[in-house]
Amino acid sequence: MPNAISGFSKLTKPEKIEWLLDTYFSDKEAARTLVKQYWNSDEKLQKLHDEFIENTITNYYLPLGIAPNFLINNKLYTIPMAIEESSVVAAASKAAKFWMDRGGFKAEVISTEKIGQVHFTYNSDFESLKTFFETVKPKLIASTSDITKNMKRRGGGILDIELKDKSKDLDNYYQLHATFETLDAMGANFINSCLEQFAKTFKNEATKLKGDLDIVMSILSNYVPNCLVRAEVSCPISELKSKDIANPKLFADKFKQAVNIAEIEPYRAVTHNKGIMNGIDAVVLATGNDFRAVEAGVHAFASRNGRYSSLTHCSINDGIFKFWIEIPLALGTVGGLTSLHPLVKFSLEMLEKPSAKDLMQIVAVAGLAQNFAALKSLTTTGIQEGHMKMHLMNILNQFEATPEEKTHLIEYFKTNVVTHSAVAEAINNIRIN
Ligand code: MEV
Repeated sequence: MPNAISGFSKLTKPEKIEWLLDTYFSDKEAARTLVKQYWNSDEKLQKLHDEFIENTITNYYLPLGIAPNFLINNKLYTIPMAIEESSVVAAASKAAKFWMDRGGFKAEVISTEKIGQVHFTYNSDFESLKTFFETVKPKLIASTSDITKNMKRRGGGILDIELKDKSKDLDNYYQLHATFETLDAMGANFINSCLEQFAKTFKNEATKLKGDLDIVMSILSNYVPNCLVRAEVSCPISELKSKDIANPKLFADKFKQAVNIAEIEPYRAVTHNKGIMNGIDAVVLATGNDFRAVEAGVHAFASRNGRYSSLTHCSINDGIFKFWIEIPLALGTVGGLTSLHPLVKFSLEMLEKPSAKDLMQIVAVAGLAQNFAALKSLTTTGIQEGHMKMHLMNILNQFEATPEEKTHLIEYFKTNVVTHSAVAEAINNIRIN
């Protein structure tokens, strides 16, 4: 077991790396080479990455792919996706093309409200607290004027602050529940700064209140059910006919059944939604947004009725097939990584510098497209055929296949089933002949 180390963050980057190599690696040279291989030769760029977090030793790469042909509200997009899973970008591109030929995706932002809370305890009667809150509320808002000045000028800011009595669930527990409009910013820093100022002012003013009031914490909520976006596709059932959909009516019925299963069966809903998040996270990451916040909020939303359920829905009425998603997404296109990470700027430029609302629509569409592609495969050919085809390159790389071997085997597996052992055997056959 290694010895604990103190003052680690104060060491220089080379010192940190040496400590790591000495402590954990038998082949130090190989480990050092790897760490350096992933550094960027442009020192300025590397320094930028070093300074995103603490104790950076190297970079961790993910592929950045693009999915073209996304027609959203009659505008064509090429969507950037940062993801390691082999079939995701191909599936998104396929779904995009399918729906481009059928009118494209329609998306709309339903609401954009963000939430933050000051959690506090109070040990006297609620009526006194309520009266106190009403008198102090304008002061809470006024005390944040320096923080909110710019946001207000652009049309955003604090929407409201409510006092919430939670003492039935937890003794002496109350909240200031605040709502915000943060426009093109995700708003985490803005909201947290406002909340901490509310807490300070509230506590100071509470000397006039009978009983003890103590602030526990002030923090935004990543649950944003009123920051909601909807995306949908629809077409007459007959138009679903395509290369792999011979019987559109049968396809539509089975597809709807698959969605209905995810609506009522949590085991299926989790995997169904995971497929949606394949698309969502990839775009969220490529555009420099916080995918953990999005994940946490989206899954809470999927459970809002007391049972974890599908984020997408499907209907068939009067011969029209309709498939849609409604999800909460708190995203930003200014601030944070968006003005720092060169590839995030690149991704946003590819999307023609979207507003936060535009990005909400694009991300929701990516999730819907991903789910459409997954359900289309699952209810027709099964998922493995396409999945293993996309995974073929990973298996070939595991066997360190040469470019010639790859060309030959990709051709061979166009008409043969891909499994790990089938690839191993095919490589062996080439190599012994
Ligand atoms: C795999 O990453 C995602 C799927 O499992 C999604 C689904 O089952 O709907 C294919």
